[in-house]
Amino acid sequence: MRRNNGTAKIAKKTVLSLENLPPKPTDLASIKPPYPYTPSRIDPNNPPWPAYRGYHEYSFAYATMGVRLPTILGKAISDTIKTLNEESDEERIVDLIGCINRMERLMKDLTNNDVLRPIIDDGEGDIPLWNKEITQFFRGKDFMSAPWVFAEAYKYRRLHECFSVSKYWKDYDVFFRQKCETFSRSADAVFELSTRFAIPFSLGKGLNVAQKEQALKAMFRELTQICLWGNSTDLSLLINMSEEDIKRLQSTGGDQLAATEKNILGNDIERLWDLVKSLDGGRIDFVLDNAGFELYCDLVYADYLIQSGYASVVHFHGKRLPWFVSDVTRKDWEWLLNSCLYGKLFADVSESEIASLRILGERWKGYVKEGKWIYEQHPFWCSGYAFWDLHSEAPDVFLHLSQSNLVFFKGDLNHRKLTYDCAAPASTSFATAIGPLARLPGAPPICSLRTIKSDVVVGLPDGDVADRLDEEEPGWKISGKYAVVLLSDGRPGEPVEFN
Ligand code: F6P
Ligand code: MG
Repeated sequence: MRRNNGTAKIAKKTVLSLENLPPKPTDLASIKPPYPYTPSRIDPNNPPWPAYRGYHEYSFAYATMGVRLPTILGKAISDTIKTLNEESDEERIVDLIGCINRMERLMKDLTNNDVLRPIIDDGEGDIPLWNKEITQFFRGKDFMSAPWVFAEAYKYRRLHECFSVSKYWKDYDVFFRQKCETFSRSADAVFELSTRFAIPFSLGKGLNVAQKEQALKAMFRELTQICLWGNSTDLSLLINMSEEDIKRLQSTGGDQLAATEKNILGNDIERLWDLVKSLDGGRIDFVLDNAGFELYCDLVYADYLIQSGYASVVHFHGKRLPWFVSDVTRKDWEWLLNSCLYGKLFADVSESEIASLRILGERWKGYVKEGKWIYEQHPFWCSGYAFWDLHSEAPDVFLHLSQSNLVFFKGDLNHRKLTYDCAAPASTSFATAIGPLARLPGAPPICSLRTIKSDVVVGLPDGDVADRLDEEEPGWKISGKYAVVLLSDGRPGEPVEFN
């Protein structure tokens, strides 16, 4: 306020008395941030709940970005050097040395926590998908500050770039040897299943309709578990797996399955069965995870779905690049089918065991020839986007999946992408956690079959279970000992809309 004589006087502070408003809570921490974000605020850098990021020391993101990824990359370099040492052609040798140099550069970027640069235009179709996302959401972000799921996917795309810009090694898979070796060390579990399933199953004569359904249901429950636990053997976690580790993880016997069923913390198998048994010659899709033994379990399950008549066609969606170490590429898919039919992978096995595998291989290749099994790959599955963005970033895939009666998403990474890999409370329903894939018109029924190997956990009817395990069993979220089988009904049959 200015007086006439020009001297300034500081105004008195006005103090409002707020005694009629509600009182301040004594515990301010009880005021929670507005999660989940409203759909208009969600983007790859701001998932519906807080993202896990590499610098979060409490999260598996920290160990993965700081230790696991450099270890995996180091092994990839060793594999390439092994190939180099077996090569005789000079031009190819020089070209491969270029790939190794680029991998070493990537190792530096990763361990120095450099800023995420755009992917070099190597002429591949996914470049716009990658560089649009980096430019829009991650400019200036580094490996540790970007959301974990994006930074980790980015690392695998950069690894692919080391080869895709070369002349002779564009499709080289640094993980191929590991994938094949692990399958050939899985003899016990492989033959346990092949000897049971080689001969097409029959339900026994004289059963009435209800008894037949009971028998089919019993088989369905066990096979669903086999397909689920087949996910425990991913190679990105078990970097130096011993024969014993493999056996322990692949036990497929009935007792073992009964004991492990209690470790399925969110379990929609009953609802899943109600859906499957209602199908008559339907279409089922698998968004695949790992090659080798897990894929083998998926194929046994898919075989049951065809033989039972519930499905007349199964679509399998694989990766077009070497991805998260053990994920299925087209080459892995073909390798497995041909190894079953023609391979000589296993020593010390009986003739009938080998024969059982050959019969399976022949039948499965027959399904492919007849168009009952269809293998597909789309760039979206190897992008940095979470599946909340499937409808907007890959509308063709959304439309395609909307025609399915049931889509299985296998494994941990697919689960992270379905749920946007963020800190949603464990009691969040699966349908809420997968957002648009549950609520958009035309969304198909979706089932996640996942052994829990990273932080995000949703769909637990009893939210306290997670708190209890946090206290009693530190590390339970990355051990692969627990699992979920979660089903979202979707909105099948409604016309898909794109605005
Ligand atoms: O690096 C962590 C991770 O992405 C986790 O999702 C999981 O531990 C592993 O790698 C991949 O598992 P899966 O093969 O089941 O997707
Ligand atoms: Mg995987």
